[in-house]
Amino acid sequence: MTEGGAERLLVRGGSRLTGSVAVHTAKNAVLPLRAASLLSRGPVRLRAVPDLADVATMRALLGELGAEVREVAPGELAIRAADVADEAPYALVRRMRASLLVMGPLLARLGRVRAGLPGGCAIGGRPIDLHLKGFAALGAEVSLRGGYVEARAPGGLRGARIYLDYPSHTGTENLILAAALARGQTLIENAAEEPEVVDLAGFLNAMGARVSGAGTPVVRVDGVPELRGAEWTPIPDRIEAGTLLIAAALTRGEIELTGVVAQHLQAVVAKLRETGAEVWQEQGRVFLVARRRPAAVDVKTLPYPGFPNDLQPQMTALLATAEGIATVTETVFDNRLGHIDELRRMGASIRVEGRTALVTGVPRLSGAPVQASDLRAGAALVLAGLAAAGETEVHGRGHIERGYADLPGQLRSLGADIEAAPLAEAVRTLGGNA
Ligand code: EPU
Repeated sequence: MTEGGAERLLVRGGSRLTGSVAVHTAKNAVLPLRAASLLSRGPVRLRAVPDLADVATMRALLGELGAEVREVAPGELAIRAADVADEAPYALVRRMRASLLVMGPLLARLGRVRAGLPGGCAIGGRPIDLHLKGFAALGAEVSLRGGYVEARAPGGLRGARIYLDYPSHTGTENLILAAALARGQTLIENAAEEPEVVDLAGFLNAMGARVSGAGTPVVRVDGVPELRGAEWTPIPDRIEAGTLLIAAALTRGEIELTGVVAQHLQAVVAKLRETGAEVWQEQGRVFLVARRRPAAVDVKTLPYPGFPNDLQPQMTALLATAEGIATVTETVFDNRLGHIDELRRMGASIRVEGRTALVTGVPRLSGAPVQASDLRAGAALVLAGLAAAGETEVHGRGHIERGYADLPGQLRSLGADIEAAPLAEAVRTLGGNA
């Protein structure tokens, strides 16, 4: 994970968000697409790639592995992986767990791979056993040595039937990537159904792979000997879209999002409607109007198409201002409640019991200096700040930039009062508040 970042965001609450804003393409789609580019010698072109810290880390990793990555136009990347190395260094995997997605392609293409083992992170332990069991099922010998995981399949991978104990999102992607060049057919059962998995399958098929069933619990991959280059535009970021919709609901706003796939937003839209917001959609656009204080609702995170855990912190911020008592249950990660102590510092009334937060809504939060513990917690605190009285100073802006291309800019374009503050000014501001 990246460090928190020296800069902070200053959010002055009270503005009602109004207007229209375009949504970027999805971080969690771009990362596996870039890993997929390692499967082919042919040139790959990715369009509308968002400018994110995690995307830059992936670029560094691809470069480290020997791929040539050029930005041929703003947001348009040309990648050529004529020859690739077999080792993903710990320094990069440590910074971004999604670096593990290069394992499947390298193992498939070279018959061997070595990658630093990621440690725990702010949202929980996050093991990779399902990825490794899948590689073993495809015929690789997997071992752990000196903080690195090694997988070897000197004779190449062979198709297999793999049952995932849990529908791991990147686990499913890593195994599809590995199986793309395996001999014979692979069936991945209890596969993740996330739209990013479907996007990856589409891209691989454009490269000449034979992947079907993506978006359902059973994905079938018929291995092919090699893949060619292809061009692709990733899907819109459903988490960025959901974050903006929740922001509008928090400020009793009225917004339009463009460039979205409404179907990917069903769970969050259903919950926002339950809180009393009006939400409707037209081709590639979603509209939200929130006229009154939200009603409390119960939320439970689940793999797609359930309510996404990547929107749980933001939804908790909204419910902190709702009328009544809400419950928020996190089932996907074991420690994604890091935003709650910070929301409490802003006046939220939240009690945690196990994995459930009991949120008693208060009419108004109040601004405070708060610390983002991870990307989505950071977004939640910014959103809380929009609805709070006074000024909120969100530390750890670097976390937010890992996965949001320009959240402050998007919010500002909708009328929010939000700006980045360098360290010196932030320190001065803190002094002034003391
Ligand atoms: N798990 C295992 N073993 C494994 C893999 C996962 O036990 O081998 C467990 C995890 O510990 C966790 C649960 O399964 O409790 C879900 O993990 P999953 O593998 O589905 O998550 P992921 O692939 O590591 C991706 C996203 C996350 C998103 C989750 C769930 C990327 C790069 N990351 O992570 O995004 O929260 O799926 O949808 O696609 C974020 O963007 O902020 C983020 C964390």
